[in-house]
Amino acid sequence: MTFPLKFNIMLLICLVLGVLCTTALASDKPGPQPPENLRCEYLKNPLGVDVDNPRFSWIPKHAGRNQKQTAYQIIVSSAPDAIDGDIWDSDKVVSSHTVQINFGGKELESNTSYYWKVRYWDAEDTSSPYSTIARFDTAFFDQEEWQAKWISKHNQLRKEFTLEETPVRGKAFVSGLGYYELRINGKKVGCNVLDPAWTTYDKRVLYSTFEVTKNLHQGQNTICAVLGTGWYKSHAFILQLHIETESGDEVVIISNNSWKSRSGPIISDSIYDGETYDARLETPGWDQSGYDDSSWEKADLAISPKGLLLSQMMPSIQVVDTIVPHKVTNPAPGVFVFDMGQNFSGWAQLRVKGKTGTPVQMRFAELLYPNGNINRENLRKAKAEDTYILKGGTDEVYEPRFTYHGFRYVELTGYPGVPTMDTLRGRVVHTAVKQTGNFISSNSLLNQMQQNFLWAFKTNLHSIPTDCSQRDERMGWLGDAHLTAEGGIMNFDMAAFYSKFINDISDVQDKKGTLTDTVPYIWGGRPADPAWGTAYPLLCWFMYTFYGDTRILEEHYEGLKKYIDSLTAMAQRNILSFSRYGDWIAIDKTPGSLVSSFYYYYDVLLFSRIAGILEKQNDADDYANLAEKIKSAFNDTFYSSEQGGYVPNTQTANVLPLFLDLPAPSARGRVIHNLVSDILYRNNTHLTTGIIGTGYLLDVLLKTNNSDLAYELATQTTYPSWGYMIERGATTLWELWQEKTGPGMNSHNHPMLGSYGAWFYRALVGIDQKSSSLGYKQILIRPQMVRDLSYASGSLTSVRGQVLSEWKRKDGMIELKVTIPVNCTAEITLPKFNMKNIALKEKGLQVYTRGQFLTGIEEIGMVEETELSLIIQVGSGTYHFELSGNSN
Ligand code: BGC
Repeated sequence: MTFPLKFNIMLLICLVLGVLCTTALASDKPGPQPPENLRCEYLKNPLGVDVDNPRFSWIPKHAGRNQKQTAYQIIVSSAPDAIDGDIWDSDKVVSSHTVQINFGGKELESNTSYYWKVRYWDAEDTSSPYSTIARFDTAFFDQEEWQAKWISKHNQLRKEFTLEETPVRGKAFVSGLGYYELRINGKKVGCNVLDPAWTTYDKRVLYSTFEVTKNLHQGQNTICAVLGTGWYKSHAFILQLHIETESGDEVVIISNNSWKSRSGPIISDSIYDGETYDARLETPGWDQSGYDDSSWEKADLAISPKGLLLSQMMPSIQVVDTIVPHKVTNPAPGVFVFDMGQNFSGWAQLRVKGKTGTPVQMRFAELLYPNGNINRENLRKAKAEDTYILKGGTDEVYEPRFTYHGFRYVELTGYPGVPTMDTLRGRVVHTAVKQTGNFISSNSLLNQMQQNFLWAFKTNLHSIPTDCSQRDERMGWLGDAHLTAEGGIMNFDMAAFYSKFINDISDVQDKKGTLTDTVPYIWGGRPADPAWGTAYPLLCWFMYTFYGDTRILEEHYEGLKKYIDSLTAMAQRNILSFSRYGDWIAIDKTPGSLVSSFYYYYDVLLFSRIAGILEKQNDADDYANLAEKIKSAFNDTFYSSEQGGYVPNTQTANVLPLFLDLPAPSARGRVIHNLVSDILYRNNTHLTTGIIGTGYLLDVLLKTNNSDLAYELATQTTYPSWGYMIERGATTLWELWQEKTGPGMNSHNHPMLGSYGAWFYRALVGIDQKSSSLGYKQILIRPQMVRDLSYASGSLTSVRGQVLSEWKRKDGMIELKVTIPVNCTAEITLPKFNMKNIALKEKGLQVYTRGQFLTGIEEIGMVEETELSLIIQVGSGTYHFELSGNSN
């Protein structure tokens, strides 16, 4: 590993290294601390686990450096107060594993609560205290356990029932296609919105589980639902409520045709078009007991969706944030435009007071015309407007339930009087994944790019990864999904989300193994463009490498194989020419056959590795052989020795083979040269790549020691570049490099060009892992201290804990702070020039002096020294290095 650093100031500098900081103190107490972050099936205290052998994980904590787990013990019990291991006591298991630990106790029962804790033994075989108690509840293991019926009719449903005794436990299992809101005794249950997650309803329908003990009471209770139309385009609702009473009796309330129904105040609802709500149709008290529903009709039994009813084991969509508008303008009489200051997905909450029957309209847009009016040309057919018709008289607050919009601006018309900044609030709505990564630097453009990535990525999580959040599309385009996944995983906890989406992908697979461009399948075609379908193997692979998930590889092994074989069936002489989109939205076009053949090779290569991991040696060998053949065919077909590059020598044409090391060793240098000169000279330091080339460009520049150039591209502000978007006010990523504000394909919240989201971590703060490492067990820290960047800090929370790398230049020195989780090791590459001394300051010891590495410092091992860098190995803990310019 060499450093491409132009160490102008550093040229005369030698490197002095000091470990200043003490350890990542988990607490003041010495020794092993209780494990934290207990997860079951990737979720914290999940209520609806419907796999009978769930997996556990935890993060061991330790006050000392260089620490590991040598053994663990898990206790699972049926009672929360006395955790005695009646369900499972693993005993002391000698193992360093902290993730993907399979449950190994008594057979779990469905619809049951379990409690668990874990402790571990450290490097000195000292046991930690037990963790705090975590919980997981099983949902239904068997479809037969559903006694409830799917019902429908109008968009409001209600049922009253009496509980003779005090309820001590209540759990509701509920799904409503076209979306639902569940209400018990006058209150909304839970914080899910736009629930359940979108799936291929013919294959699977997800239900949510809510703990509702506190919502119930002895006596008369009322359970209600409001229904939307959503992606199902119709109403169907199912609920099964299990209540345990004081004396231990079980009462089960189910949806059936004894429920009552009527049309409520939601006049119409549509994801694309918005909602119309007539508050005059509200019937106060309808969701509470004692309401007279004699005029309501009986609900009908609905046709059951064909799919299996399965538990929603992922974070739900929620209102995750509230935005205060930046400003409000009045571009025309009676027209008010609110600028939220940020493009996002969700809706607006309206506060209003006026005469009964007054319709107030909110229309949503990403753009403005120069005259200040909203520009909705790029929404295509999506109407994106919510209308609220006032009850009248009192202060009224409204927000829609069964739609969402992608917008920055809200146009308000029909408002009685003059609105103030308090009239509207932006409600940010998306799948509530936790942000787990942070990146910040001395370059404000990079910092805005990071914000744009975060906003574009998270506001396109709507139970599937969508392409955009505003126009009449919002589909699970597979290309966009895999190209944004790594950046997403580094910034957010995506494990449960992608586990679900990988199932969604397998749900669209047909007998021949082919996939579709969008999942669920609505748009695009079948078979999927190979650059889109590759999301299946790639997302499985990311789950494996980032989270150590082998179960996903096992579960999808046959599906992946069928998919790869469907590619082979289309290929001719090992070249896959079928392509629908190629290097989509590229400035310089690359043949689709090159792009498809690249992915054909990539998929086959990964599949042969997956087969090896699962010890299916024959497949591993067969597919490795096939990969070799594709590689030769690829080089024979696309490489031109005259041009020294892959024809037509576009950036993408050279980036893709370089990414997978396809060029022959003798050709590699010329291919890199071609790529670099195309960027530098032909395009004056600009990229010309579409989504596919952009996906790998920065990583290829990293691996070919061109980080300074990657940085120049990343911070470019003229067209085409990310900076160009930002200079034109982008607060998310655009769909196109061009600035377009007219009609057509031109979304302003489209994450697919966001490959820098991963590169910030992988290159600028240099957090990566060895190719053999899973879940950042063997970390690599290789910060690229490029050009004028003087500070960069990044941390990500891996399944094993937080990894941090932070460096800054100061007074001719470089400080580098690194945090490595317990049970992990890291190889840290320190840039050096003419290094003479390394001191472990806190111990007053020289580690390295005048070209010699001195042994005897436990925490630091030497790995390799090259002319430009020193690679050292450290164990867990926090290390603060100081690289100073003083020789001797
Ligand atoms: C979507 C893209 C998608 C593409 C496929 C567009 O309409 O918005 O993000 O990948 O079609 O060509």
